[in-house]
Amino acid sequence: MIKITDLWKRFGKLQVLAGMNLEIFEGETLVILGPSGIGKSVLLKHIIGLLKPDSGTVDVHGVRITDLNGPDLFKAVQEMGMLFQGAALFDSMNVEENVAFYLKQHGDPATGHKYTRAEIADQVSHALEVVGLKGTEKKMPSELSGGMRKRAGLARLIVYKPKIILYDEPTTGLDPIIAMQINELIVQTKERLKATSIVVTHDMFSALYVGDRLALMKEGKIAHIGDADTFLQIDDPLIKSLNFTISQDPRRLKEKNHHG
Ligand SMILES: Nc1ncnc2c1ncn2[C@@H]1O[C@H](COP(=O)(O)OP(=O)(O)OP(=O)(O)O)[C@@H](O)[C@H]1O
Ligand SMILES: [Mg+2]
Repeated sequence: MIKITDLWKRFGKLQVLAGMNLEIFEGETLVILGPSGIGKSVLLKHIIGLLKPDSGTVDVHGVRITDLNGPDLFKAVQEMGMLFQGAALFDSMNVEENVAFYLKQHGDPATGHKYTRAEIADQVSHALEVVGLKGTEKKMPSELSGGMRKRAGLARLIVYKPKIILYDEPTTGLDPIIAMQINELIVQTKERLKATSIVVTHDMFSALYVGDRLALMKEGKIAHIGDADTFLQIDDPLIKSLNFTISQDPRRLKEKNHHG
């Protein structure tokens, strides 16, 4: 479980997190929605230890991430993986090296097992096939489209098999077919790894397809949180306008894909 308690963060005059409280349950996928610039990416970076709050705490599986630094922090966040907004590949490495990076660095995050070269090559090739990027192994990030970079980032994440996965805008800027494949991948990864996931998105279709619970971030806090049915009933202008963006209920499609 991830527990965020009374988290505050400001940049200069801008108060981004203002008493944020949030619990993410073991094995669930929580979707966080909210307007641009409200602090969703900042929140994710606090969970994975890249930013330190001004006050408040983040506990992950009972470990107080916000108290840790250096090697202790590194060790504590090893079970987490994040898909950064914009994918954030290493520019100097080709696709294959990018996807292999965490496997080489950490081995298996669950057991600490170090992989052989052949094992790494095998897993990288499988992950690239899963995200539809087979054949791009030797390409550099600069040679890929935005959508391809995002999928390479996703391959790097899933190949590493983290127990906690943070996705920052996984479908933004992708065409609908690729976006749907990414939604499927998020659902399958959750089932396969029994992972706990947080998905930040503006894409209401994706939110309903992948999310067990949905949350709306506003004024540095979680303004609303609940299962999809509860969330859709909330009388909030942003939720109402998000609702207008979908023409069919993604959950019906998901039932169809997963049971027949
Ligand atoms: N390292 C930083 N230093 C200064 N300001 C920052 C930093 N990181 C984020 N901010 C500011 O904090 C605010 C929240 O940023 P954040 O990236 O979390 O927004 P967001 O909700 O993810 O938006 P979007 O939906 O557009 O991705 C923004 O005004 C941003 O400029
Ligand atoms: Mg963001």
